[in-house]
Amino acid sequence: MIEDIEQVLYTEQQIAERVSVLGKRIHTDYLGKKLLLIGTLKGAFLFMADLARAINLPMEIDFISASSYGNGTTSQGLIHIRKDLDHSPKGYHALIVEDIVDSGRTLSYLTENLRSQHVASVEVCTFLDKPSGRAVSFEPKYAGFTIPGGFVVGYGMDYAEKYRNLPFVGLLKRKIYEK
Ligand code: IMP
Ligand code: MG
Repeated sequence: MIEDIEQVLYTEQQIAERVSVLGKRIHTDYLGKKLLLIGTLKGAFLFMADLARAINLPMEIDFISASSYGNGTTSQGLIHIRKDLDHSPKGYHALIVEDIVDSGRTLSYLTENLRSQHVASVEVCTFLDKPSGRAVSFEPKYAGFTIPGGFVVGYGMDYAEKYRNLPFVGLLKRKIYEK
């Protein structure tokens, strides 16, 4: 796997430090609120596990799976829900935990979808933000790191279902996805 990585962008330790800071901010912002953490499958599974443990508050946890990508590296624009929430989010302060915001389509769809289900509030905490990829305007409330562009893998993120278990975030070599 490692031979397919151009450059390590964030090490395990840098990730842990950043997640801890995000957890503390979220703790302060959600104190006394009925918090529902919603992880987006599959990309956010590791970030979700780390972030949930960095937020020292009572919370409920659910997962949703939406897709806008096939096996490629560019967004196709259409969002569809592969797996919906197990329970109604009505009345909860929903915090969507995402791996990376690129075009913004997935998150603008998911936040609208949750609002229509009468949540008390909905915000997004994304591990990575790639503002250069935006096709629709979308601003996550919390972001771990902002990256310029390129295709990244690891810490939950994949290319064609590979590399999710890398403990760091790396820039994938172009030749891997341009062949
Ligand atoms: P958006 O709807 O274009 O914002 O797409 C967001 C989703 O696309 C993310 O949740 C990821 O699953 C995937 N994605 C976007 N950019 C990357 C990347 O650089 N590496 C891996 N997955 C990505
Ligand atoms: Mg995702």
